[in-house]
Amino acid sequence: MSVLRNQIVPWIKVLACQALVLAIVLSLSGSLTPGSLTPGTLPVLLGQGAAAAGLGLLLRMPRIWLLVQFLLPVAVVYGDAVPAWAYLVAFVLCALVYWNSASEQVPLYLTNRRTWQALADLVAASQARRVVDLGSGMGGVVTFLARAHPAVEVSGLETAPLVVAASKLRIAFSRLPNARIVYRSLWDADLGTYDVVYCFLSPVPMARLFEKARREMRPGTLFVSNSFTVPGRAADRILDVDDARHTQLHIYTL
Ligand SMILES: C[S@@+](CC[C@H](N)C(=O)[O-])C[C@H]1O[C@@H](n2cnc3c(N)ncnc32)[C@H](O)[C@@H]1O
Repeated sequence: MSVLRNQIVPWIKVLACQALVLAIVLSLSGSLTPGSLTPGTLPVLLGQGAAAAGLGLLLRMPRIWLLVQFLLPVAVVYGDAVPAWAYLVAFVLCALVYWNSASEQVPLYLTNRRTWQALADLVAASQARRVVDLGSGMGGVVTFLARAHPAVEVSGLETAPLVVAASKLRIAFSRLPNARIVYRSLWDADLGTYDVVYCFLSPVPMARLFEKARREMRPGTLFVSNSFTVPGRAADRILDVDDARHTQLHIYTL
């Protein structure tokens, strides 16, 4: 069902918008003076893409699909102009970023600023000394928490190569002595050394990860999952973040 909702329905909308815009362009090009509107030229293709993206906006499509709408006419007509190696480079870059999508079924998406703040408040309230973000992505959580709480040691564990490199650079530039990113799988971490363990992963690893947390974390410490619950175990507390995506932090006290 989710494949239908997330992949097939948006493509049907994209094709419907593109077809409508193309039909309008073709009918206008016939009725206007010759040469004033030539289908297939770059400005017309960009105009078509912009109009289709506008329709997508009216249909409240997510931003990524508006980009698809905008680029599709140019990509279809000028696709051959892109050298074959560029597709290989794009594939390798995507693989280095979305490294854990296939093996762990955890893609890259990021905690938002309001949730960073909610986490910072939680860290203060729990008087934590050591905090970890399991699968730390671009290091946003680590940087924010380390800046908000200079006395707290904040770590991020990550294994997507390009993401590790980018987040290590981010930490280096922000000059936060209490922040660090480690190239390590979350499955190899000793969770017993942290007071707050945060994760924003996917439904897939939650049961196994919580079992690991239960074995390793000390009594009274907190396991906090953004959005994804632990199957078969109710959270001790749910924190509703006042943001557009209605983020919920599921807090489990060990
Ligand atoms: C949804 S992102 C969350 C990023 C970051 N925690 C945030 O909230 O902004 C999940 C991250 O977990 C990483 N990840 C998945 N499996 C992992 C593993 N076994 N060890 C370390 N990182 C992992 C992915 O590469 C991805 O960057």
